Amino acid sequence: MAKSSKDGSKKSSTNKSAAKAATGAGAKDTGRKGKTLRSQGWFGMGTRDGMVHRSWMKNQGLPQHLFDGRPVIGICNTWSEATPCNAHFREIAEYVKRGVYEMGGFPIEFPVMSLGEPVMRPTTMLFRNLVSIDVEESIRANPFDGVILLTGCDKTTPALMMGAASCDLPALVISGGPMLNGRWRDQTIGSGTHVWKFTEMLKTGEMTQADLLEAEVAMSRSKGHCMTMGTASTMASLVEALGMGLPTNAAIPASDSRRYVLAHMAGRRIVEMVKEDLRMSKVLTREAFENAIRVNGAIGGSTNAVVHLLALAGRIGVKLDLSDWDTLGKDIPCLVNLMPSGEYLMEDFFYAGGLPVVLRELAKNGKLHKNALTVNGKTMWDNVKDAKNWNEKVIFPFGKPFKPQGGIAVLTGNLAPTGAVLKPSAATPRLMKHKGRAVVFEDIDDYKARIDDPKLDVDADCVLVLKNCGPKGYPGFPEVGNFALPAKLLKKGVKDMIRISDARMSGTAYGTVVLHTSPEAAAGGPLALVKNGDVIELDVAKRKLVLHVSEEELAQRRKAWKPLPPHDTRGWVKLYVESVMQADKGVDQDFLVGSSGAPIPRESH
Ligand code: FES
Repeated sequence: MAKSSKDGSKKSSTNKSAAKAATGAGAKDTGRKGKTLRSQGWFGMGTRDGMVHRSWMKNQGLPQHLFDGRPVIGICNTWSEATPCNAHFREIAEYVKRGVYEMGGFPIEFPVMSLGEPVMRPTTMLFRNLVSIDVEESIRANPFDGVILLTGCDKTTPALMMGAASCDLPALVISGGPMLNGRWRDQTIGSGTHVWKFTEMLKTGEMTQADLLEAEVAMSRSKGHCMTMGTASTMASLVEALGMGLPTNAAIPASDSRRYVLAHMAGRRIVEMVKEDLRMSKVLTREAFENAIRVNGAIGGSTNAVVHLLALAGRIGVKLDLSDWDTLGKDIPCLVNLMPSGEYLMEDFFYAGGLPVVLRELAKNGKLHKNALTVNGKTMWDNVKDAKNWNEKVIFPFGKPFKPQGGIAVLTGNLAPTGAVLKPSAATPRLMKHKGRAVVFEDIDDYKARIDDPKLDVDADCVLVLKNCGPKGYPGFPEVGNFALPAKLLKKGVKDMIRISDARMSGTAYGTVVLHTSPEAAAGGPLALVKNGDVIELDVAKRKLVLHVSEEELAQRRKAWKPLPPHDTRGWVKLYVESVMQADKGVDQDFLVGSSGAPIPRESH
C-alpha cells in the first residue's frame, strides 16, 4: 500500500534540479503559505527544461507574465460528446478560467477519460478506477498547484475525487448540474426512474413503442445529468456534504445561469486555496465522511455512494467501514421527497433551497459535525446556518420527515459474510421481513434467456437471485441489481419482489433489492452456492440475510464450485479483475489505496 504523504512535495522523491528550478530567478513566492509553488518546478527560470516548458506552452498565445510564479490551476475536464451529462463542461471551464484569471492565477484545462453512463458498455464502473489513475497521474505529471474537478455523470465524481485525493493538492469540485425536470404530456418524468416504469408498461401493453419514443426526448430536454436523486445527484450532494464543493453546488440546474456563476466563483476560490495551502486532506476528514453518510440518508441517496465513499476514504487515509453506513445512517430520516423514493426532481429541490436546507436540518438535530471545514474556508455551519426552506413538500423538516428511515441498511448473514446493502426508502415495507423460495439465474445471460419464459416456476413470494454480476464476475459491477420481474407476474399486477445479487443498482431505481452481496459469486462467495428451491430469509430490521441450507450441504456445494474462465488475458480488464477489491472495501484496485502526494517528477529532457 502506498504511504500517505502529508506534503505534496514529498522530499524523498522530489527531483533536486527541478526543485532548484522552482526557486530560480523570477519565481514569485505567491502561495502555499510562504513556500514556492510547485508549478515553478516547471516554469521557473534557469534551466533548459524551464525554457522547453514555457516555450511550447507559449504557442497557445500565453504571455510571459503567466509563468511568473502565480498559482497554476489545472481544470480537470470530463467533457465528452459520448458523455451527454457532461457535454456542456467546456462552457463551464470557461467560467472557471474567468475566476482564476481574476484572482491572478493561470488556468490550464486538461482532459481525462470520461465515463458516460447511458452509453458505455459493459458498465462505467469497470473504468472508475482507471479514470482515477488517469486523473492522479495527469495531476502529478503536470505543473499544477491546485485543481478544479469538473464532474457530473455518475462515476466521473468519485473517479476524479479519488485520483485527486491520491495527489492531495488543493482541489475543488464543480458538479455539472442536473437537467431540468422531465415533462411529458401532463406528467413530470424523471431520468432513469421513468425508464424502469415505462419499459415495464411496454411489457404489460400499457404503453406503445411510439409513446416511448415521445417520452424519451421529453425526459432529457436540457443539458445536465440525471435530475432524479440518482447517483449523479447523490454524488453532487455528497460533494457539498463533504465540504469539497461550494454551497449550493448540488442542485443548481445545468442550464441555470447560477451554475456558471458558481463555476466563476470556484475559479476565484481555488487560487485562494492554493495560497492557503488548503489541501484535500484538510477537508476530507473522518467528520466530513460522517457528514456525507448522514446526508446520504437524509436525501434518500443512491446505494452507489457506499462504494464510492469507501474508495475515496481509502485514498485519503480515513478509516471508514461498510458498517459505518449502518451505524451512522440508521437514525437518519429521509427528508427529501425526490424520485426514485418520492415525487419531485432536482430542479424542485433547488427552488426549495437545496442541500444547505438539509444540512441545516441535520445540524440543528445534532446529526452533523458543524465544524467540518469546507473548501470556501468556512465551516459547514457557517455555510448553512441561514438556509431557508421554501417548500416543505420537497424538503421535509427533521421532526416530520418524508420517510422515517433513510440511510442504507447493511445486511450480513451466511449469504453475505462481509455484507450486502439495501435501501429501505426505495423498498416495499411488507417485503422487509420475508422468507421465500429461491429462483436462481446463474448470470445475466441466463436471466435474459429465462425471465419471461411463461414456464418459469416462479410466484410473487419467491426470491429472485442473480449471480456473477459483481466486480470480478461481470466484470465491472454493473447496475443490473434492480433486474425486472417476470413479465407474467407484472401482468398480474405484481410490483415488487425480493431480488438478491452481487450487482449494483442505478440510483434512479427502486424496489426491495439486496445489492453488493459480498464476497461476490465469482470470488467464490456463498451466493455462488445458492440453488433453485433453497429458502432465503431477509429481515431488514435485524439486518439479516440468511440462506437456510445446512453447513454440510454448503461445504459439498463449495467443493463442486468452479471459478469462471478469465474474461480477458490482457489489458485493463485483466489488471482490473486480478486486483479489484470486493464491494465491502469500495471496489478500488488494491494497489491504488492510499496517496503518493504530488512530488515534482524528474525532468523530461
Ligand atoms: Fe449521466 Fe444519469 S446517465 S447522470
